Amino acid sequence: MTDQPGPRDDAQERLPAPRPASAPVPAQRFSAPPSAHRNDLTPERTGRIVRQSANARWLGFLAVTVTSLFIIGYYFYELGVPGGLTEPRLEQAADDQQVTAVQRGYNLYEANCAQCHGVNGEGGKGPTLNRQDKLFAHLNPDYIRNVLTVGGRYVCGNPKSIMPVWSNQGNPPGPLNYKQIDYLIAFLRAEKTTTYTVLDPSLNEPVIDPATGKEKTFTGWVDPNYKPDPGATPFPDCWTDEFKTGGSASPGASGAAASPGASGAPASPAASGGGSGAVVQEAALNVAFVNGTLKAPADTAFQIEFDNQDAGQPHNIEIKDASGAAVFKGDLIVGPAKATYEVPALKAGTYPFQCTVHPNMTGTLTVGS
Ligand code: HEC
Repeated sequence: MTDQPGPRDDAQERLPAPRPASAPVPAQRFSAPPSAHRNDLTPERTGRIVRQSANARWLGFLAVTVTSLFIIGYYFYELGVPGGLTEPRLEQAADDQQVTAVQRGYNLYEANCAQCHGVNGEGGKGPTLNRQDKLFAHLNPDYIRNVLTVGGRYVCGNPKSIMPVWSNQGNPPGPLNYKQIDYLIAFLRAEKTTTYTVLDPSLNEPVIDPATGKEKTFTGWVDPNYKPDPGATPFPDCWTDEFKTGGSASPGASGAAASPGASGAPASPAASGGGSGAVVQEAALNVAFVNGTLKAPADTAFQIEFDNQDAGQPHNIEIKDASGAAVFKGDLIVGPAKATYEVPALKAGTYPFQCTVHPNMTGTLTVGS
C-alpha cells in the first residue's frame, strides 16, 4: 500500500520546496577524535602486554620442564634406574608372572603329585624330585614336559608305570592343560632362595596359617649355587639305575657294604656258609611292606625271601643300623617278581629297614632273641 504514490507525493514533485543554502561542513566533524587515531601504546597497555608475555613464557617453560621430567622419569621407569636400584618394567612384569606361575604350580603339585612324590618332593610311591643332583640337569623343563605328556613310561620305558599322562596333549589325554603344565614346571624349577606365598586356589588370596596367624609360605627346591662334583657321574636317565648296587651310584659305604650280600651271585660265600641259616619272608604290596616287623638270628648270615607284588613298581629292602648307615642293600626288583637276599651276619639289635625307592615303606628287623 505504501508504495502506491499518494497524492501528497505528487504534490511535492510538482512543488519542490526551496532549501536555504548551507555552509560546507568541515571534514573533521565526520572523523573520530585524534585520540582514537593513536597507533602508539599507552603506558598501561604496554604494562599489560609485558605482564602477559611474561606469563606466557613461564607457561611455556613449565610445560617444557614438566614434559622433560616426564620423559626422564618414564625412561627410568621403563628401563630401570642404573645401579640396579629398580628393575626394568618388563623384567619386573616377567618376575611377577613367574611368581604367579610358581604359586599356581605349587597348588597343582600339592593337589595332584604330592600323593606320590611327597609334599616336598621327597618321594614316596614315585621317585624323589627334590634332589639337587637330579634337579641340576636330569629334571630340566623339557624333560618334565615330556614326562607329563607321555606319562611314567617315558622315564624308564616301563609300560606299566603308575604315573599317568598329565597333559591334555598326551595320548590318552590327561587332565591338565598346557598352562597348568607350565605352572608345574615353574614350580619344580623354582629356586630355594625365593620364598613364595601360598595362595588359595579358588580365592587367589594368601592362605593364613591358623596356628601362627601368618601367611603360609613355601620355597622352591632348586639350589642355584649347586654344582655337581667335577668327577661325579651325571644322574642316570632312568631313576631306578640310581639304586643299582655296584653301578654308577655312590661308591661310598653303602655300595661297598651291600655288594657282598647282594643276591646277584648265588654261589656267594654267605649263601654256602649260611646254608642252615634262617629264611625270613617279606612281601611288598600297595607300596608298603606286608610284614612290618621281621626277626632273624644274631651273628649268622640269613636269607630274606622278598616277594614284590606291586606290578610295575621297583622295590627292595635296605637294612640300616642305629646310626642310619646301610648294612645291607638288596637289588631292586620290579614287581611282580621275587628275589632272595643273602644278608650277612648282623649283631643282635633292632635295625630299621626300608625300600630305597620308597623311603616311606619302612619296617623293623629284630636280630637276636
Ligand atoms: C600315582 C602316583 C604318581 C602321581 C600322582 C604322580 N607321579 Fe610322577 N611319577 C610316579 C612314578 C611311579 C614315576 C616313575 C616312573 C617310572 O619309572 O615308572 C614318576 C616319575 C615322575 C617324573 C620323572 C622323575 C625322574 O626321576 O625322572 C617326574 C618329573 C614326575 N613324575 C612328575 C610328576 C608330577 C609333576 C606329577 C603331578 C602332576 C606327578 N608326577 C604325579 C608316580 C606318580
